[in-house]
Amino acid sequence: MPSATATAHPNIALVKYWGKRDIPLNLPSVPSLSLTLDRFATTTTVTRGAAEDEIVLDGARVEGRAAERVLRFLDLIDPDRPPCRVQSTSNFPVAAGLASSSSAFAALALAGSAAAGHDLNPIRLSVLARRGSGSASRSLWGGFVEWRLGEAADGSDSHGVPVAPPEHWDVTMVVAVVSEAKKAVGSTEGMERSRRTSPYFDTWVATAAADVDAARAAVLARDLPRLGEVMESSTFKMHATLHTARPPIFYQAPGTLACLHAIFGLRAAGVGAWATMDAGPQVKVLCARADAERVAAALRPHAVRVEILGPGGAPTVEHAP
Ligand code: PMV
Repeated sequence: MPSATATAHPNIALVKYWGKRDIPLNLPSVPSLSLTLDRFATTTTVTRGAAEDEIVLDGARVEGRAAERVLRFLDLIDPDRPPCRVQSTSNFPVAAGLASSSSAFAALALAGSAAAGHDLNPIRLSVLARRGSGSASRSLWGGFVEWRLGEAADGSDSHGVPVAPPEHWDVTMVVAVVSEAKKAVGSTEGMERSRRTSPYFDTWVATAAADVDAARAAVLARDLPRLGEVMESSTFKMHATLHTARPPIFYQAPGTLACLHAIFGLRAAGVGAWATMDAGPQVKVLCARADAERVAAALRPHAVRVEILGPGGAPTVEHAP
């Protein structure tokens, strides 16, 4: 039976994607820019021609909406597909604001397309992965990646574009896992509530392109203070749209705030460290490799665990022998 296995790394947005101009196509309201991580990864095998559709995530068979989301995605790859078996494992907590959907749908797009014998052009795969999860469009490349808005109604020009490879700049992301609980409000619902009800959403959209321009320039110049500052600003603007939605959404847990204060304290002491957060309570801190241990030590009292990650590479794929 034709089968392929792909491994993809999650990415963390340095300038955030938040808001959809088209929900079924996952077309963004704003451009974004991310860093693909090393060490954290999702590995997915797609086998075509199984007895029935079967989805196994981290060793457990899944049914219902989670399974439907995967199966509808396989239908995008091949509307006439035979029943498929999808087996996927991630070595980090899923659905807890660690960008697991980015590596999951990048790996699924690659494994599913390879098993179907399609061409594996990364731009085409990025457009496809975007349909599963917007942030997945950026996990088709390693290092620093921009996701352009695009203009085409069918979304064919809204995809990732590599900005700089992982070896361009050895920055680190120190990830403080504050809680491993699954998030209460999914990102699509959070984005829609922000868009429909926050009085700050229009300002968020109006300022995003300038943030991407500033972040891209900072990455190319390896200017950490400039990148950290724009990353924090993008983060807090995104969360301001959530806090001012009706009803409001707070992804932060008490430990999140403790981590933020620890980082602000380090900065006051002269350490170059800047924080970001996604649709969950975890805090991710951008800093120089030389400061990573000190940053991790400041976060540890407030976290379940702390991981130090660097820039990761592009996804890989293997066909079954
Ligand atoms: O890829 P989605 O639909 O789960 O959205 C992710 C949104 C954020 O992680 C909060 C920001 C981003 O750009 O990754």
